[in-house]
Amino acid sequence: MDYLEITGGAKLKGEITISGAKNSALPIIACTILTDQKVRLSNLPNVVDIRTLLKLITMLGGGVNHNNTIADIDNSSINSTKAVYEIVSQMRASILVLGPLLARFGECEVSLPGGCAIGQRPIDLHLKALESMGAKIEIRGGYVKAEAPNGLKGAKIIFDKITVGGTENIVMAAALADGVTTIINAAKEPEVVQLCEMIASAGVEIDGIGTSELTIKGTNGKALEFKETIEIIPDRIEAGTYLCAGAITNSSITLNKVNHKHIRASINKLEEMGCEFELKDNSITIFPPKKLKPINLITMEYPAFPTDMQAQFMAVCMIAEGESIIEERLFENRFMHVSELNRLGADIWLKGSVSAVKGVQKLYGAEVMATDLRASSALVLAGLVADGVTTVRRIYHLDRGYDNLEGKLSSLGASIIRKKEK
Ligand code: EPU
Repeated sequence: MDYLEITGGAKLKGEITISGAKNSALPIIACTILTDQKVRLSNLPNVVDIRTLLKLITMLGGGVNHNNTIADIDNSSINSTKAVYEIVSQMRASILVLGPLLARFGECEVSLPGGCAIGQRPIDLHLKALESMGAKIEIRGGYVKAEAPNGLKGAKIIFDKITVGGTENIVMAAALADGVTTIINAAKEPEVVQLCEMIASAGVEIDGIGTSELTIKGTNGKALEFKETIEIIPDRIEAGTYLCAGAITNSSITLNKVNHKHIRASINKLEEMGCEFELKDNSITIFPPKKLKPINLITMEYPAFPTDMQAQFMAVCMIAEGESIIEERLFENRFMHVSELNRLGADIWLKGSVSAVKGVQKLYGAEVMATDLRASSALVLAGLVADGVTTVRRIYHLDRGYDNLEGKLSSLGASIIRKKEK
């Protein structure tokens, strides 16, 4: 198993390019199920989750030609509608094939994802919405068995809670449904917007893109024709993570290929901490202050502060001058990194969904264990400033979602090496 060895203290400088967004690429790959024509995806991040979903597409019988940032997908040959446990258990986002498979083939079986390190993460809202579109759904042998032999019908769906994956699944299902589907309390994340734009580019009428009320006029079973190439938007979480790397190491670095609007919440919080920024076309440069100020933050749905940046900001707060308060509102268990960060000398106190982070003068390198994707990057950030060597184990979590993290950080001057367990 690989691990990372980081020697803290190096100043960073230079520029890196942000990769395509994993969380946009995943629903877009699933969405290719809605067509029987070839689709080319570009600017894919080189991460394990993308390879896992592409593998699932091939297991369904689709044709995939994947080379680094480009994938050519041909779903005219799909001959199975079963998403097996082996894949879904590796990656929960596989549930995103449920809506498109059901919409295009009138039936499918998708394994239930099971437990998760950051919370229970049920899919009840996806299932309830599909049922209101006329699907018959049963849970048998660990699988969701869904049927809609006469196709899905447009419906009015009110999500009790804002769900990114739920909105994406229903938008895809609604694209081929008979009639109009309205989604109230829809997610507004940039990744949902890109998916809607992809579907709209195939001629499906979608009103309210980027708002909490979406109206989708389905094609009544007619497969879609997408634009030939779909370019994945920049990863706002990867960009936010590198801004945190600049802030925590007190270094000025430049990120290219970013969408400023998508990272506004992270920029605002870093400004509160005393950082300054220069924004040019698609790039951003951070200028951190000598001493960072503490902040209060609450994770919420877009455009508010993203839960996927909570762990990385906690790392930055660990060396701020004073006490920061961080509240996690999206996931009930997304604080597994707290005890690992405390092993590096942080002073973090946790009660329920709220943590208090008292800034310390110094962190000290230690062996730590990654528990989920974003927790892993928080440990790496802390390792960049900790005195001595920090060893981060279980980095398979990191490899799921960060494209060449150690390569990008090394190119900025960090001392970070990937090693193999003997
Ligand atoms: N929820 C339900 N029932 C459902 C669906 C969701 O109760 O049927 C709850 C969840 O348990 C959670 C909340 O609603 O408490 C929000 O979950 P959501 O469905 O929005 O999350 P998701 O679609 O499973 C995506 C990202 C996550 C990101 C969340 C929130 C992808 C592939 N994943 O997950 O990304 O944290 O939205 O923004 O897009 C990551 O990249 O590290 C990551 C975990």
